[in-house]
Amino acid sequence: MENIIKIENLNFYYGNFLALKNINMDIYKNKITAFIGPSGCGKSTLLRTLNRMNDFIENIKVEGNIYFKGQNIYSKEVDPVELRRRIGMVFQKPNPFPKTIYENIVYGLRKNGVNKKEILDEVVERTLKAVALYDEVKDKIYKSALELSGGQQQRLCIARAIAMQPEVVLMDEPTSALDPISTLKIEELLLELKKDYTIIIVTHSMQQAARISDWTAFFLNGELIEYDTTENIFENPRDKRTEDYITGRFG
Ligand SMILES: Nc1ncnc2c1ncn2[C@@H]1O[C@H](COP(=O)(O)OP(=O)(O)O)[C@@H](O)[C@H]1O
Ligand SMILES: [Mg+2]
Repeated sequence: MENIIKIENLNFYYGNFLALKNINMDIYKNKITAFIGPSGCGKSTLLRTLNRMNDFIENIKVEGNIYFKGQNIYSKEVDPVELRRRIGMVFQKPNPFPKTIYENIVYGLRKNGVNKKEILDEVVERTLKAVALYDEVKDKIYKSALELSGGQQQRLCIARAIAMQPEVVLMDEPTSALDPISTLKIEELLLELKKDYTIIIVTHSMQQAARISDWTAFFLNGELIEYDTTENIFENPRDKRTEDYITGRFG
């Protein structure tokens, strides 16, 4: 199996507070990896270290190494903006811009100077189809994205992320603000998207991790307790703490 990201001896501090403790793990290409664990265990922090979203927070310190396709992402040669194009992100709450559906999708391309109508039209159609939204919105792509339902908005945000042709998509509890039907649609979508992308998803729903992920990492108090195939984590956990968590004894 090919790893696309390698995390080595990673410590992460907010001020003096050690939020991630000596994390070592590989993320595999074209797989869905789920980060699970109780609130505050460091899932979002770890996710944000992978595309340097934490750079925006003051007074942080990163120790150790994170390699993306062999390159250390914290080295001076790496442009964080380009890194975030290659490792995109989708957030918990759908956050479309107050613009048309069309302009939401092409936003990043325009910022990069791509303005040719044929190219943008093609990207809009292709990404809307990729997120299974095309049939629902094809007659209103010049209407405001804010008119869409929450689930549609989240699929649009995924379309906006993949319009930049990232290799990895990070998702921080992308369905926690959605109803069960929209959640299932997004889950089906992620299973489709993993053919083309590597997906890392933070989820507080163990059922969701079990349904869609190939690999699952269980965190507790900033430590990676256990990382294995999703099947092993849920059916044959090696650590008592993993077992207690997945059987609902805490969290
Ligand atoms: N910007 C921040 N400044 C200081 N501490 C933070 C910040 N963000 C998160 N933390 C702390 O780091 C720990 C891990 O948080 P987080 O990564 O958000 O956990 P999770 O996503 O698993 O709920 C928590 O103790 C949290 O309070
Ligand atoms: Mg979080």
